[in-house]
Amino acid sequence: MTMHSSSETTALLDGIRAFIEPASLRTDADSALLYGRDWTRLYQPNPLAVVLPGTIEQVRQLVCYANDHRLALVPSGGRTGLSGAAVASHGELVVSLERMNRILDFDAVDRSVTCQAGTVTEALQNFAREQGLSYPVDFASRGSSHIGGNIATNAGGIKVVRYGLTRDWVTGLKVVTGRGDLLDLNRGLIKNASGYDLRHLFIGSEGTLGIIVEATLKLTRPLHEPNVMVLGVPDLNGLMAIYGVLRGALELSAFEFFSELALRHVLKKGLHRPFETATPYYVLTEFENPAGRFTDQALQLFEHCTEQGWLVDGVISQSEQQAKELWRLREDISESIAEHQPYKNDISVRISRVPALLEEIDHLLAREYPNFEVLWYGHIGDGNLHINILKPAEMATATFAENCGAVSEHLFATLQRHGGSISAEHGVGLTKKPYLHYTRDATEVGYLRALKQVFDPNGIMNPGKIFD
Ligand code: MLT
Ligand code: ZN
Repeated sequence: MTMHSSSETTALLDGIRAFIEPASLRTDADSALLYGRDWTRLYQPNPLAVVLPGTIEQVRQLVCYANDHRLALVPSGGRTGLSGAAVASHGELVVSLERMNRILDFDAVDRSVTCQAGTVTEALQNFAREQGLSYPVDFASRGSSHIGGNIATNAGGIKVVRYGLTRDWVTGLKVVTGRGDLLDLNRGLIKNASGYDLRHLFIGSEGTLGIIVEATLKLTRPLHEPNVMVLGVPDLNGLMAIYGVLRGALELSAFEFFSELALRHVLKKGLHRPFETATPYYVLTEFENPAGRFTDQALQLFEHCTEQGWLVDGVISQSEQQAKELWRLREDISESIAEHQPYKNDISVRISRVPALLEEIDHLLAREYPNFEVLWYGHIGDGNLHINILKPAEMATATFAENCGAVSEHLFATLQRHGGSISAEHGVGLTKKPYLHYTRDATEVGYLRALKQVFDPNGIMNPGKIFD
């Protein structure tokens, strides 16, 4: 698939206007910049145009048209992705699901909701709350990410220890495949043993097999009066020991960590330290505590962990407001460091392997990045670490990416020895594509390619993402 000459472009766009109203086809520079990229800032957006279909039929027509003209499509949600999967830098047509943002159905007996793919995560969460229920998959980008995009990357976030990933909540999917067929997958069923479950193939497919247009999601009851604790941890060894103790006694809904260096960035943005003592690492954990029933137990566990030397200070939220403020210390990290164009790692291993991995990569990073600011944070209770390397202001973006790419080879080789993954929740997209082989061997990638061929024989769906 190549870039188009200006006469080809005019003809292609005229063809689209035959079935899409003119206002929903945007060719201006602002739209190209806005819709042509996600939160990564490594690629120059350069889409052919941006189209905003309003119906499934229009999506289908677009896919058929793209097949006829060998036109590459980039499906686009809230563009909060961190791996470049929604970037259009080679003259692709961006297909934004933004207008398809309606909640279509709710069933109290099934505790399920059906919505269009462009529904914003927070809108769905609010809708669930209004029904006395909850959609518990949650992350800092809740205000802009779309359900369709969450499904396309199998998004995780901050409550996975309790509620799992997006995949665990999807009971039905409508997709338009790269061939232009509309598939209605699983239809909200809990049990369905009638052969291959294609729904799960589309979850995490990063727009490479087709376009997700509708989803049916399970809902659950809300948490009972959650409390948040932030704990000051002197070294990496204590993190998983604390987790083992707390998860054995409390109903944890989150177990996150961040380093003092990461905390300093949110403090610069106006937040306050959780307590006076500065420690190299912090744990943020949330647990259900109806009527304060588990407060004494939490305090006893706190004392036990202090006696063991695993933590040195801590705070427990006294109100919903304080809980929210404590959460911001963790949730705001990503946004507070964005200006430093961080090189983002999103690695995972089995929980049992976390201590050994932490020890090894701590040494590796100190050796390989002596002059860079390296920040640690992440969903350590899921075995998921975000290691962010900040770009020195004076260093060119390309030089920085090259430097970090070289270190990644060491990091991912270590990860491979521990049976881990190069991406836990951000996806492969463009940024992790060169490293896919550390997680999936050549035979397996061969099967992935063959599957893509089935759903997208002309290679029009998000070409160049995940693998070439
Ligand atoms: C997070 O955990 O904060 C998000 O995955 C975003 C990030 O890694 O920067
Ligand atoms: Zn994360």
